[in-house]
Amino acid sequence: MKAVNPILEDNINWLTENGKPQNIFVPLCGKTVDLKYLVDLGHTVFGTEWVYECIEALAEENGFQFIFDEKNSVYYTADLKLKIYKGNFHECPIEDFGPFDAIWDRGAFVAVEYYERRNYIEFMKRSVRTSNGGKNTTRN
Ligand SMILES: C[S@@+](CC[C@H](N)C(=O)[O-])C[C@H]1O[C@@H](n2cnc3c(N)ncnc32)[C@H](O)[C@@H]1O
Repeated sequence: MKAVNPILEDNINWLTENGKPQNIFVPLCGKTVDLKYLVDLGHTVFGTEWVYECIEALAEENGFQFIFDEKNSVYYTADLKLKIYKGNFHECPIEDFGPFDAIWDRGAFVAVEYYERRNYIEFMKRSVRTSNGGKNTTRN
């Protein structure tokens, strides 16, 4: 199993306001172990991924048992701590799952075709909590 991304570990307190339970969006998540890391810390995590084999490997490699909501194309754990929308992120009704307190983008923006990147940014803006103290800031 791959290691948790060290940049995520280094910035976890900043990302989660010192460990407060957060609703975190991991776009284009693949089968990253970062999802389990965030869930194990007590956060609620939502990912988008269009390759079924990635979702299957994510479950097998991390011990997740997913239930599939076919109508909404969402794989979710019984405790609702992890949900994965299976499909093209452009088609995900993101408002139904957010708003998110934080986004962890690792290899997502760069995986999006150049001509789709403006859409990706607009999609991210729609997904985050920006009122009532949302910080809406980025860290590179
Ligand atoms: C660079 S990889 C995984 C990045 C992951 N966050 C990580 O840290 O390993 C990008 C993933 O995005 C998925 N993907 C690419 N375009 C997508 C799209 N339009 N909608 C949903 N998933 C997509 C690919 O199948 C792939 O698993």
